[in-house]
Amino acid sequence: MKNTVVVGAQFGDEGKAKITDLLAQEADFITRFQGGSNAGHTVVVEGKKFAFHLIPSGILYENKICMIGANCVIKPDDLKKEIEDIINQGVKKEQFEKCLKISPLAHITMKYHTDIDGLNENTLGKNKIGTTKKGIGPTYTDKYARCGIRVEDLFNKETLSKKLDIILPKKNKELEFIYDLKPYTKEEIMEECECYRKILAPYVDFNWQENLLNIKNNKSILFEGAQGVMLDVNYGTYPYVTSSSPTAGGAAFGASMGPMVIERAIGVFKAYMTRVGEGAFITELTDETGEKLRQIGGEYGVTTGRARRCGWFDAISAKYAVLVGGLSEVALTKLDVLDSFDEIKIAVAYKNKSTGEIMTNYPTDVFVHNNLEAVYETHKGWKTDISKCKNYSELPENAKKYLKRLEELLGIKITIVSVGPDRNQTIFI
Ligand code: GDP
Ligand code: IMO
Ligand code: MG
Repeated sequence: MKNTVVVGAQFGDEGKAKITDLLAQEADFITRFQGGSNAGHTVVVEGKKFAFHLIPSGILYENKICMIGANCVIKPDDLKKEIEDIINQGVKKEQFEKCLKISPLAHITMKYHTDIDGLNENTLGKNKIGTTKKGIGPTYTDKYARCGIRVEDLFNKETLSKKLDIILPKKNKELEFIYDLKPYTKEEIMEECECYRKILAPYVDFNWQENLLNIKNNKSILFEGAQGVMLDVNYGTYPYVTSSSPTAGGAAFGASMGPMVIERAIGVFKAYMTRVGEGAFITELTDETGEKLRQIGGEYGVTTGRARRCGWFDAISAKYAVLVGGLSEVALTKLDVLDSFDEIKIAVAYKNKSTGEIMTNYPTDVFVHNNLEAVYETHKGWKTDISKCKNYSELPENAKKYLKRLEELLGIKITIVSVGPDRNQTIFI
């Protein structure tokens, strides 16, 4: 298999994990390259449903190395629970010990990061971002402010102690005077870190440089993204974004291997769109059509259980995601969710409600989005159950027309179509 990146190309929850799990069959090494347990990734194998948050979706195969990469953030107690939940579903403990690797450079989400995330959201009130409250933003903030704690620090008490002497006085001021939270003693943080060390110890790959070199030279690699391009901190609907880079470019640095390794970048798009959390969503449907998409698509968050906002496919933001996300092909998921619709719409332009101006380029200032409405073209539905289709030729003509039109608008090929949650409900074109 060519070294492949799989990224979400909308607002997350596009069905990336299903695609990653599927492609993982052909890969030797699967690596998550950004994000943390804000992600909720569902894999369905023969009707059995698994939920992943931080663990790469390739973990269900034996003999594949699954790595949590350098640009990920880890909340060790969440990871512990995630592993336990999967073990309870029948995956062997030894499978994790053998296959799960963690980069020593990944950053740790401390208790105070989760507290700060929650408090920031409460303070913002109606202007909140709608985060998952998993401490993601505050962990990346500390990383870039050069006062984070990395996985490797947990394994060197001397380094950790020196670092805390620098970090903690400032952090305590922030906790006390900005957030009205209790300050920590150095001993308390050392104790918290010791618990985390014990959790992570079986998985940390201190020999990662040699191992990655070997993998780069001899193995096939699958890079697994979380979130989606429109939630990217650089290119998404800023500030209503996550704090990392879920693009093919992000994969290159996040997995410690650089851009020359990547040969294929698959953008996963839903056949319609969803979003959880706040922020503009120009094609959002707040009527019964939106509710119908939510019910048929089962659009409720895996991590927070929140109802996802639903709307039609937005080809303007999609074309933008192809560009900035560095995408070379499309996996289109949940086409079956549209089976019963008489009409299916695609946004092909935006209209400024005040001036009437028509735009076909994506405006990056999201504060103007409220003044924009979608200009739609309407396609006839196929009104047929496609969930058992195995080949492109079996798809109804109107479904094929819809796919062709999306390809035309995005300028890249659709190579995978998903017609149900299970591994085998997939059409390769
Ligand atoms: P991810 O975060 O991008 O991996 O996606 P999620 O797991 O959060 O959400 C996708 C949901 O859609 C999950 O419940 C999947 O099992 C389901 N799903 C994935 N592909 C399909 C599909 O083609 N059809 C249907 N009906 N469900 C799908
Ligand atoms: P997967 O990988 C959908 C959203 C949150 C919020 C914003 C910032 O399952 O597609 P954060 O907690 O990251 O600081 O929240 O990003 N968000 C997601 N939305 N799917 C996800 O992951 C998400 N991860 C974060 O809802 O709007
Ligand atoms: Mg998800």
